[in-house]
Amino acid sequence: MLKIDNVSKTYKKGNKEALKNINLDIGKGEFTALLGQNGAGKTTLINILAGNVQKTKGIVTIGGYDLDNNSLETKRIIGIVPQEVGHDYVFTIEEMLKKQSGYFGIKNNKNYIDDLLEELSLKDKRKVTARELSGGMKRRLLIAKALVHKPKILILDEPTAGVDIELRRSMYGFLNKLHGEGTTIILTTHYIEEAEKLCKRIIVIDDGKIIEDQPKEKLMGLFSENTRIKFEFDYDINSSDIEFLEEYSPIIKENRELQIKVNKSDLSKVLRLVSERGLKFVDINVDKPKLEDIYLKLIRH
Ligand SMILES: Nc1ncnc2c1ncn2[C@@H]1O[C@H](COP(=O)(O)OP(=O)(O)OP(=O)(O)O)[C@@H](O)[C@H]1O
Ligand SMILES: [Mg+2]
Repeated sequence: MLKIDNVSKTYKKGNKEALKNINLDIGKGEFTALLGQNGAGKTTLINILAGNVQKTKGIVTIGGYDLDNNSLETKRIIGIVPQEVGHDYVFTIEEMLKKQSGYFGIKNNKNYIDDLLEELSLKDKRKVTARELSGGMKRRLLIAKALVHKPKILILDEPTAGVDIELRRSMYGFLNKLHGEGTTIILTTHYIEEAEKLCKRIIVIDDGKIIEDQPKEKLMGLFSENTRIKFEFDYDINSSDIEFLEEYSPIIKENRELQIKVNKSDLSKVLRLVSERGLKFVDINVDKPKLEDIYLKLIRH
């Protein structure tokens, strides 16, 4: 669906090498997270796909079309939600979306525009200009704009920055729905738990290079030995009580808490051992590795 071959970008200004030999192949219907620190090159890559930034080298193919020779076709296939919010203040929200549809030669899509406004909780704002929208609403309007032509690929550059938690959740639901309908989605975000919740493939870009590209489950699996179990007791335990757990190097904290680090696959075995011994715990807590911890490890390397 989207193929990026050996793409590099050096900005003339500052002679900044923002992308260094990027290779990516994204299939139809994938839901991918593009993660990376400030200045890693995410927006540069997205702007190249959108045709807003000229790559220095490499080939981009979108839905089978070469980006350099088919900008009209490629623009039809992708919808971009840009990182920067910039709306004109002349037209109402509804007029703006109608105009945007017009760029793609689409007419009479009022019902679809209504649906989009409904999904993005903007329906009651349809008759006002963007000036009267809050920051989070302006961001949601960007999503509506990116979707008017029903693109096959949706690329979102930090769509949830500054969006409150409740609306973020409803946005997740909306993105999941689009994914379910077959839309290919690429999401950049600094909220790593968002990528963990939504995406199936994780790409990490660091200083213009891809340093990780894996299915999420596989990436999380690589770190599954970092699962920590905590048992809490309402009586003091001592080391002789937990000798049977020796192979897991158990630690007792403040006499009443037992901590064990295990591989996720050993979880049920440890629980069985503990209950067979008749250790009566009053609380249990399983701390699984989070994508955020893995991500931090990756970028610190
Ligand atoms: N128009 C430009 N001219 C010169 N340098 C630029 C330009 N745009 C971006 N850069 C530089 O390219 C690098 C990558 O920037 P980019 O905006 O792609 O990062 P990003 O990963 O999107 O970061 P963020 O998470 O902060 O949005 C940075 O060093 C940035 O300063
Ligand atoms: Mg950016």
